[in-house]
Amino acid sequence: MPNITYIDAHGESRTVAGETGSTVMETAIRNGVPGIEAECGGACACATCHVYVDEAWAEAVGRPEPMEEDMLDFAYDVRPTSRLSCQIKIRDDLDGLVVRTPARQG
Ligand code: FES
Repeated sequence: MPNITYIDAHGESRTVAGETGSTVMETAIRNGVPGIEAECGGACACATCHVYVDEAWAEAVGRPEPMEEDMLDFAYDVRPTSRLSCQIKIRDDLDGLVVRTPARQG
C-alpha cells in the first residue's frame, strides 16, 4: 500500500498507509490526520481539503482539472502546488507522496 505523509502547518509529520484507488483526502480522514476538513465529502464542492503537494511530487500528481481549479479559488493561501486532496487518487507510483496542510481551511 502506498504510504502518504502529511505535514501540518507546525511541521508535524504523519505517515499513513493509503489504499490504491482511494483519495488523499479519504486516507487522511480515515486515519484521523488533522488539518483536512472535507466538508463536502469529496464532491469537489467545498475546498476544505486543500493541501500543498511537495515540490518533488508535483509533476507525478499532476495539475488540477478545471472544476478543481475553480474551487481552489475559495481555498485559503493558494500556492502553485495547491490541490484539493479529494481529487488526488492514490496510485502505486505515489508511494512516499508528501503533502502539507495549510494553516487553516476555507
Ligand atoms: S472534500 Fe470538498 S472539495 Fe474536497
